[in-house]
Amino acid sequence: MLNEKQKLEEIIKLGDYMAHINDIDVLMEKILTEARKLVNADAGSIYQCENGMLLFTYSQNDTKQKKLPPGKKLVYNTFKMPINESSISGYVAVSGEILNIEDAYKIGDDVPYGFQKDFDIKTKYKTTSMLTIPLKTSTNKTVGVLQLLNAQDENNNVTTFKDNDIPIIKHFANNAAVALEKAALTRTLILRMISMAELRDPKETGAHVNRVGAFSAELYEAWAKKHNLTEYEITHNKDTIRIAAMLHDVGKVAISDTILKKPGKFTDEEYAIMKQHPYLGARLFSERQSELDEMSFDICLNHHERWDGFGYPGHIDIVTGLALPGFAKENGQPRGKKGEETTLAARIVGICDVYDALSCRRVYKSAWTQEDVVNELKKSAGTQFDSELIEIFVEIIEVIQSILQKYPDTE
Ligand code: C2E
Ligand code: SIN
Ligand code: SIN
Ligand code: FE
Ligand code: FE
Repeated sequence: MLNEKQKLEEIIKLGDYMAHINDIDVLMEKILTEARKLVNADAGSIYQCENGMLLFTYSQNDTKQKKLPPGKKLVYNTFKMPINESSISGYVAVSGEILNIEDAYKIGDDVPYGFQKDFDIKTKYKTTSMLTIPLKTSTNKTVGVLQLLNAQDENNNVTTFKDNDIPIIKHFANNAAVALEKAALTRTLILRMISMAELRDPKETGAHVNRVGAFSAELYEAWAKKHNLTEYEITHNKDTIRIAAMLHDVGKVAISDTILKKPGKFTDEEYAIMKQHPYLGARLFSERQSELDEMSFDICLNHHERWDGFGYPGHIDIVTGLALPGFAKENGQPRGKKGEETTLAARIVGICDVYDALSCRRVYKSAWTQEDVVNELKKSAGTQFDSELIEIFVEIIEVIQSILQKYPDTE
C-alpha cells in the first residue's frame, strides 16, 4: 500500500505519463490500474459516455485474476446502459458527484440509484464497498465514469474507501479525463481519415481497423510479457502499435474501387495491382518524423511478408516500386523478406489481419468458424507466420474473441 507522500508523487508522475499515451484503450487500462493502486481497490471498471449511453469498456479484478494461470487475462463482454439516475454509474455521470458507498447491498430507498445485483451474479463476484467517480474534463464535460470496487486493508480484507483519499483520486480523475478526451479525438481523427479515403464501406472499415489494432496490441503485450520487457516499455510500445496497426491498409486509398470492391475472386492482373498497397501506404510515412510514423511505415510496408520469404512486396524501393539493388530474383521481382528481416510489429499485424479476414465476412468470401480459423493459423505457423507468435496468439484466443465481439461489422 502506498503512503500519502508516495501517493502525491504518483499523481504528479502519472499526470505527465498519461498525457503522452495516444490510444484510448491503452489509456483506459492504465487509468484503471493506477486508480486501483492509489486507493488499494481489488477491482474496478471504466465506463465511457457515448451517444447518451454508458459503455462498459474496461474492467479489472485482482481476486479473479489470481485464479487464472499466469499470462491469462480476464475476458469481459462489453455492454451499454442508458445514462440516467437509476444506476450508480449513471447517477454519477448525470450529477457529476463522487459516490462513496460502504456496502452496495445496503443502499437505502431515499436515493434514486440502486445496485444491479445481476452484475455480481454474472461475474461471480461480491461487491461491497464502491467508489464511483466522474471523469470530467477541464470544461466540466463528463467523458466517463471510473468505478472502484472493494477497498482492501493491510490484510487484504474488504474495507470502506477512506474519505481522505477522495481529493487525491479526484485530482487523478481530472488528469485522466483530459488525457481520455484527447485520446478519443485521436481515435476519431484516424477513423475519419480512413473513412474519408473511402477505403470501403466506412462502417465496415472502422470495425476492421479497430479490431486489427486491438488484436495487435494484445498480441504484442503477451509477447512482451514473455520476453520480460518493463511495464513502461510495454505500455509505450503497445500504445504505438495499437494506432499504427489501424493504419496497415491506408495504401488501399490508391487502389481503384472496381478492384477494391470486386464482389468475387481477383484475376491475376487485379491481384498484382492490389499487391501495391503495402508500399503505396508506406510512402505516406516516408518522412518518418516520429516513432508512430516509423512503426506505421514498417507495418504498412511489411504486413503481407511471410516468415518463409514468399510474401510481398519484398525488398523493394518504395519510390520506384522495383527491387532494391542486389535483391532482384531471376525474373526481376524483389525477393521477399524472410523471418526476422521484417520487424516484430509487422509480423504481429500480419497475423492479426489474416485472423480478421478469415473470421469475418468479406465481399469476396464468407466468414469461417473460429475452429477453422485457428486451425488455419496453426497450419501456417513456420511457413506464413512466425511460430512463436502463433503459439502466443492461440494462448490468448479468448481475449482476441472478446475483441471480435466488441467491434462487430455493421451491415
Ligand atoms: P483482406 O481481405 O483483409 O485479407 C487480408 C489477408 O488475409 C489476405 O492477404 C490473405 O493473406 C488472408 N486471407 C483472406 N482471405 C483468405 C482466405 O480465404 N484464405 C486464406 N488462406 N487467407 C485469406 P492478400 O491475399 O494479400 O489480400 C490482400 C487484400 O486484397 C485483401 O485484404 C482484400 O482486400 C484483397 N483481396 C485479396 N483477394 C481478393 C479477391 O479475390 N477478391 C477481392 N475482392 N479482394 C481480394
Ligand atoms: C452501476 O454502476 O450501477 C453499474 C454497475 C453495478 O451496478 O454494479
Ligand atoms: C479493409 O477491410 O478495409 C481492409 C482489408 C485488409 O485488411 O486487407
Ligand atoms: Fe493489407
Ligand atoms: Fe487488413
